[in-house]
Parts: sequence; C-alpha cells; structure tokens
Amino acid sequence: MTTAVCPGSFDPVTNGHLDIIERASQIFDEVVVGVLQNPGKHPLFTLEERCDLIKQVVRYLPNVRVESFQGLLVDFAEKYGAKVIVKGLRAISDFEVEFQMALTNKRLNPKIETMFIMTRHEYSFLSSSMVKEVVTLGGHLQGLLPPEVEKAIENKLQRRVEG
Ligand code: PNS
Repeated sequence: MTTAVCPGSFDPVTNGHLDIIERASQIFDEVVVGVLQNPGKHPLFTLEERCDLIKQVVRYLPNVRVESFQGLLVDFAEKYGAKVIVKGLRAISDFEVEFQMALTNKRLNPKIETMFIMTRHEYSFLSSSMVKEVVTLGGHLQGLLPPEVEKAIENKLQRRVEG
C-alpha cells in the first residue's frame, strides 16, 4: 500500500487544495492531509477549525484522512508510513521555494520523495491569503472555495464585527 501526505497550512482549504488532494487520492492508496500547527503565524482559523473544514470537504474521498502536525514534515510522513510528499505547483513563483523545501526534505530523509501535481489553470493564481484578503474586503470568489469554507469565512468575519 502506498501512502502519500499532502501538507499545508490550509487557512483555509480552497478548491485548489481540494483538486490536488482529489487527484493524489486517485494515484495513491491512501492520502494523509497534514495540517501544520504553525504557532509563529496567526491563522484566521484555529487548527481544529482548519482540520474540520478539510474533513467536511474531503468526505466524498474514502481513502483520505486528515491529521494535524507540528515539527518536521518528514517525521510526520514517516509516522504515517508515507513514502511520498505530494505538493501542488502553481505559477513559476512557487518553484523556487518548493525546490528548496523538496531538497531539504530529501536531505532530512532520503527515503521520502516529493512529487508535484500541476495546478489546474483555473486555480493557478489562487492562494489562501488572497482568498482571505478578498473576502475580508467584501469581495466574492465564486467557484474558488468549497461552499462550507465560504460560509465559515463569512461566519468568522461576522463574529469579528460583532465581537
Ligand atoms: O500551505 P503552506 O503554508 O505553504 O505549507 C507549508 C508546509 C506546511 C508544507 C511547510 O511549511 C512545512 O513542511 N513545514 C514543516 C516544517 C518542516 O518540515 N521544515 C523543513 C523542510 S521545508
């Protein structure tokens, strides 16, 4: 059985992420979505909220599970018996940082391979930070977010206004 991990911050999960997770789930027997607990950052959604949202949107994919992690990605992959790290690759600007991360992970654990799935062109400009900025400023991004996520952002912003 070949297991792959799909890591990220997922703050929040977008249709771009979902597309990569779904395509990875068609290639590998099992996909573990690894949600980074990044204490240095100030995410819009808590770790629990990010994991819950991903669980909701991947519920139609039976071979996908969602787990959080902190520390090294290669240690997380090893813990779940994953030999492959799957990342989505968007525009050229992603390449340099992804190249650096892939080589670092290879140095840390040579048994684990990083593989890239090219983004669909309709999601090639999409990022969680852009989504948050647009939605926070009152814009709408139809078709780029799962409906559950769109609702969760609206609720979060509403609570901020009320609070
Ligand atoms: O969605 P993101 O924020 O671009 O995901 C980045 C992520 C989680 C893949 C990256 O930050 C990561 O792998 N963090 C774990 C720490 C680690 O292993 N660092 C060393 C190798 S890059």
